[in-house]
Amino acid sequence: MKLAVVVGTTRVNRQSLKQAQWVLNEASAMEGVKAEIVDLADYPMPFFNEPISPRYNPNREIDPAVKPWLDKLEGMDAYIFVTAEYNHSISGVLKNALDYVTSEFTHKPATIVSHGSVGGARATMHLKEILSESRAVVIPQQVAFLGMHEGIDEDGKLSAELAANPYGPASALSTALSELKWYSDALSKARG
Ligand SMILES: Cc1cc2nc3c(=O)[nH]c(=O)nc-3n(C[C@H](O)[C@H](O)[C@H](O)COP(=O)(O)O)c2cc1C
Repeated sequence: MKLAVVVGTTRVNRQSLKQAQWVLNEASAMEGVKAEIVDLADYPMPFFNEPISPRYNPNREIDPAVKPWLDKLEGMDAYIFVTAEYNHSISGVLKNALDYVTSEFTHKPATIVSHGSVGGARATMHLKEILSESRAVVIPQQVAFLGMHEGIDEDGKLSAELAANPYGPASALSTALSELKWYSDALSKARG
């Protein structure tokens, strides 16, 4: 499974990067998984302003600044979106990046690892809808993380307390990753 761990915020001092590092560390320890961080900060794109919805535009001309992002997504089998909650939704930069997507996610699984004062749950609800409309197969397991500031260090290591909690984020991520792998293997076989 070629897995993209998409970092959904780009501001300086963002927390999402260390959460993505945690996801990357856990995913990379799994057999048969080749995970990489896909950081939106590395894909600066203009605000979407194409003349026709890209999915319905056979003559679409992709902005050269957008193509690397779409090519990166196309080459992946599965996706984990690390998202913060900005005003009860996802960040503008992530929504903008997703508005460019057409067929890249088709028949491929995706899930979400969120954080915020209620674990990023409201951002996750929005993102599930957006990903589904973007043709991804959104799996049922997500990870909602409370207490990011003290819960994960800069290397993506969980605090001892969280790591030991059987109902905490470590076990939620482990379940989400193994489910994602199951769907990825099944769907990749079906895609042929
Ligand atoms: C513009 C903005 C809006 C925010 N709105 C919410 C919110 O609605 N709910 C919430 O739980 N946290 C909210 N927060 C707090 C963020 O979840 C928190 O700052 C988090 O670390 C942001 O992720 P980042 O560090 O990767 O940017 C908001 C933060 C910003 C910058």
